Amino acid sequence: MNNIVWHQHQLTQALRGRQKQQQPLLLWFTGLSGAGKSTLAGALEQALFARGAHTYLLDGDNVRHGLCQDLGFSEADRDENLRRVGEVAKLMVDAGLIVLSAFISPTAAERNRVRELFAEGQFIEVYVSTSLAECEKRDPKGLYQQARAGEISHFTGISAPYEAPQAAEIEIDTSKGTLAAQVDTLLAFLSAINAIDVSDHNDNGSGI
Ligand code: ADX
Repeated sequence: MNNIVWHQHQLTQALRGRQKQQQPLLLWFTGLSGAGKSTLAGALEQALFARGAHTYLLDGDNVRHGLCQDLGFSEADRDENLRRVGEVAKLMVDAGLIVLSAFISPTAAERNRVRELFAEGQFIEVYVSTSLAECEKRDPKGLYQQARAGEISHFTGISAPYEAPQAAEIEIDTSKGTLAAQVDTLLAFLSAINAIDVSDHNDNGSGI
């Protein structure tokens, strides 16, 4: 990065957040494949949207169709996948958005590398702690079956490791309680840290 100097522009993250009447931040959902990260993050995003929040959801399966389509599931490729996603999320938070991301992100080092890109309190780790047994029972894409049969290598939880977070801000097991209750838990957390104002909720009739 020789001869490259950061240009400090006039419009700051704080100004952009104030314009949107929200605290920009990143909610990082981590957990096994099939744990319910995308479903939970999607439902929370809908609830935030209904409350007038400006949001964006970065989803592992979708990002791997474009930005990260050149990457596989070796340790190095996962590191690069999460590095790119972390940098994109940082730009989006800088733009004033409330960003949600759903990636397995199997190692503590990868997750902490992303955390370090953000100011204190702006990276909220949501550990979707649904057990391997439950994820394998759900097997929504039939991938666990293929991994057990040896047809997919480096499959998280089967032939590649998953390091459970030790100090996640929130933990949710999607096999317990309803999706609506899980979303309420997340909204209550965001309200408690003053990231959103639950009092100005305009019900859009979606039931979320
Ligand atoms: S991460 O490890 O780099 O964070 P990411 O969340 O982007 O993973 O992608 C995970 C998704 O890719 C899974 O939900 C699953 O559908 C699919 N997938 C395909 N191969 C694998 C594999 N070997 N391990 C885990 N997930 C895989």
